[in-house]
Amino acid sequence: MKQQKILVIGAGGQLGSELTQGLWNIHGKQNVIATDIKEAQGVLATGNFEILDVLKTDHFNDFIRKNNITQIYHLAAVLSATGEKNPKLAWHLNMDGLIQVLEAAVEHKIEKVYWPSSIAAFGPTTPKIKTPQDTVMDPTTIYGISKQAGERWCEWYYKNRGVDVRSLRYPGLIGYKTKPGGGTTDYAVDIFFKALTDKKFECFLKPDTYLPMMYMDDAVKATLDLMEAPAEKIKIRSSYNVSSMSFCPSEIAAEIKKHIPEFEITYNPDFRQSIADSWPKSINDSPARIDWGWEPQFDLDDMTRDILKNLPALL
Ligand SMILES: NC(=O)c1ccc[n+]([C@@H]2O[C@H](COP(=O)([O-])OP(=O)(O)OC[C@H]3O[C@@H](n4cnc5c(N)ncnc54)[C@H](O)[C@@H]3O)[C@@H](O)[C@H]2O)c1
Repeated sequence: MKQQKILVIGAGGQLGSELTQGLWNIHGKQNVIATDIKEAQGVLATGNFEILDVLKTDHFNDFIRKNNITQIYHLAAVLSATGEKNPKLAWHLNMDGLIQVLEAAVEHKIEKVYWPSSIAAFGPTTPKIKTPQDTVMDPTTIYGISKQAGERWCEWYYKNRGVDVRSLRYPGLIGYKTKPGGGTTDYAVDIFFKALTDKKFECFLKPDTYLPMMYMDDAVKATLDLMEAPAEKIKIRSSYNVSSMSFCPSEIAAEIKKHIPEFEITYNPDFRQSIADSWPKSINDSPARIDWGWEPQFDLDDMTRDILKNLPALL
């Protein structure tokens, strides 16, 4: 098999810093170039890292050519909560960045492209429980609108330009190695930091706000499973639903309390409540399970144990 040369764009973010390590394990550090517009931190600083702005067309294309890139993981985006404050910036990065990558995939004959969508592509009239793969999609945030449009662009480039582009609609991603980047599910990361340092946490969502969530290890696994699957197994070229758990703030607080009995949570909902209320509460991911064998490994209990075991060493 031809040696793959992989470009990760937005590698310094919450997902990218962990996905890059998953790619190192499969392809070797020397074959995975992690890039971002900000300097490398933590484990990325030890690796094959370069500064690269996906929006700078000439430099971006030169970079792909010079490094003989064969696969691209495009993770750079403005997330939901930040996007509502900077809608034009969110649209510019999320749309123009994606089109830049898809065009480059055609020009440089890139073998595979990964681009994440989100449950934010759904909206208030989408069925909220066990949201199916194909359903009403009426996103109300600029972020969600950009993800819905991005899904259509991906499918278009697959059908009309032959680009092998693959995508997942991630739920809220929970990891502890990098701080989250301005999303509506960030509370489920911050709560662990605050539980360990302050023994208390003020939540920006109401106690009973159920949202689909996924532990970072499962998000990395889902992404690598999708990208390693043979092309003929990938039947959906917009984006696959993927799911592992759903919980609300009071449930994750109760889970943490099992390990830290003095932990207390209070609630002070802000503008992110209405974003959360427009999203699904749980996801049906049968096509991902049938087509390429998706199966999550972590539930709320496993995730909480794992984070509370490993996070203290990083504080
Ligand atoms: N984190 C989640 O819960 C979640 C959920 C659903 C989907 N996603 C998607 O996964 C992807 C990664 O999310 P994340 O949480 O890691 O985001 P993040 O905000 O933590 O990271 C994004 C990275 O992109 C970089 N970046 C910004 N502008 C850039 C540019 N012009 N060129 C190159 N890099 C640039 C940023 O510096 C940052 O390091 C995004 O597409 C996001 O929409 C994330």
